Amino acid sequence: MRGKRIRTAGLVICMSVMFLCACGRDWTAPGDKVHVGVTFYDQSDTFLSELINCFREQLDSLQEEGLDIVLTVRGASGSQQTQDDQVQEMINAGCNVLCVNLVDRTDPSEIIELAREKNVPIIFFNREPVTEDMQRWEELYYVGADARQSGVMQGELAAEAVRKSAQIDRNRDGRIQYVVLEGEPGHQDTIIRTENAVNTLKKNGIELEKLSFGIANWNRAQAQNRMMQMISQHPGKIELVLANNDDMALGALDAYQKLNFTETALPVFFGIDGTGVGLEAVLDGRLAGTVYNDKEGQAAAMAKLAAAIATGEGKDDISFKNKRYIYLPYTKVTSDNAGSFLGETPSALQ
Ligand code: BGC
Repeated sequence: MRGKRIRTAGLVICMSVMFLCACGRDWTAPGDKVHVGVTFYDQSDTFLSELINCFREQLDSLQEEGLDIVLTVRGASGSQQTQDDQVQEMINAGCNVLCVNLVDRTDPSEIIELAREKNVPIIFFNREPVTEDMQRWEELYYVGADARQSGVMQGELAAEAVRKSAQIDRNRDGRIQYVVLEGEPGHQDTIIRTENAVNTLKKNGIELEKLSFGIANWNRAQAQNRMMQMISQHPGKIELVLANNDDMALGALDAYQKLNFTETALPVFFGIDGTGVGLEAVLDGRLAGTVYNDKEGQAAAMAKLAAAIATGEGKDDISFKNKRYIYLPYTKVTSDNAGSFLGETPSALQ
């Protein structure tokens, strides 16, 4: 029993607060304890790790407003079975709201059943379950972003770059030879981002020739490998790399650096996310652009919703799409505004 208690205590990052100031909502009513259990698909994912850090910060602020919060965070190491077990554990440990970033977005049945049985609402995030699964229970929510918008924005950024710089069409054939680096095949962001980026380029009058594509599962090292293969299949031909996220765009660049390409022989690279490393790369010109995946906004929406669900207060202040969905907008990022996302003052204001 004692061992179990110690284990449980070890598992839990406890942030307990008594009765504090009241800037904002007054969280002092009985039952205002929020015990949030978070599980996410893989600890090595750059974007998710940053999103979860933002979520911790958001809960810290709610705590400063007087809410009593306990947070448990688990990474599922890419295994749905592990994630199902984590959900069971967190429910047993007394979580009254769960935030789940599914390993397999098409397989949430077990998790939904476990949660429904104990009446613990679930906020899915970033990896969107299919509609049929979301309809299984009214206490299922989703927080994320609109994949289509990120693809369109990436396409617009690339079209603008091609229009502005004649050097991108290095062989001067009036067409842009491109490759795509894709995330996990079943992920809503993968197909939709690729399709919309390419269609937007075409709509903007850019002639394209697709040379190849590689699946790199959001991962920088895998992207480097795929890119090495594509470079050797199409030596000197690739002019544009569209990557479904920043880590893969950077992996593509790693491949060129490993092969000792000179700067003038490089294609242009576009990512999506605006992670710390992604923004730095846009700032110093290694990436031509990215699209900001608003992790702060998503984390804030998750925290607000988790608090509202657990306390029964404040849900009416939240605006949902289709009653249970929250989508945060993306923003285009170039070297002109990348610094502001990193908290830097624009040079014009200095
Ligand atoms: C992000 C990727 C991340 C993936 C994980 C996407 O929305 O852009 O960077 O790896 O979500 O689910």
